[in-house]
Amino acid sequence: MNFAVLTVSDRCYKGICEDKSGPLITELLTPYGKIKEYITVPDETEKIKKALIYLCDDIKADVIFTTGGTGFAPRDVTPEATKSVIEREAPGIAEGIRQKSMTITPKAMLSRALSGIRKKSLIINLPGSPKAVKESLEFVLPVIPHAVEVLSGDTLNCGGNYEKVVID
Ligand code: MTE
Repeated sequence: MNFAVLTVSDRCYKGICEDKSGPLITELLTPYGKIKEYITVPDETEKIKKALIYLCDDIKADVIFTTGGTGFAPRDVTPEATKSVIEREAPGIAEGIRQKSMTITPKAMLSRALSGIRKKSLIINLPGSPKAVKESLEFVLPVIPHAVEVLSGDTLNCGGNYEKVVID
């Protein structure tokens, strides 16, 4: 699988803050495939859209994980940018992450994250904090190989087992 990571943060973009979540995602994805691109953009709809379109259409990443900009802060616009580039929604992924996360913290209700499909790429919004990234990825990762297989049109079998992944 080919992955791309998009960090959405004004402060990381300006270099005021070190991006911990983007590198954490790349680290957690490494056993599953190759990281083709890792980009940081500020919390600006047009820049997020442009990066997502590039990662889907030019890089052709199987899965793009965004981190940050999913909450209620005035500049949080990652879900809106994602919505405007996807062709089909994949609400189960975002709902699943939220549902699982709410068993850990009720603050997960504040995530407006979306997931959806553009061409053959799956875009998944993750929250911004490293803690939330780890909790979300741990839950969603086991389903990703099958998601990519189905999206590519190569599905032979939908009946496989779901194996839990534990990330230390
Ligand atoms: N999801 C998990 N699994 N764990 C968390 O700690 N934090 C929440 C939520 N989702 C959290 C979580 C909080 S506090 C916020 S504000 C929202 O994600 C949005 O985060 P973002 O604006 O950094 O994207």
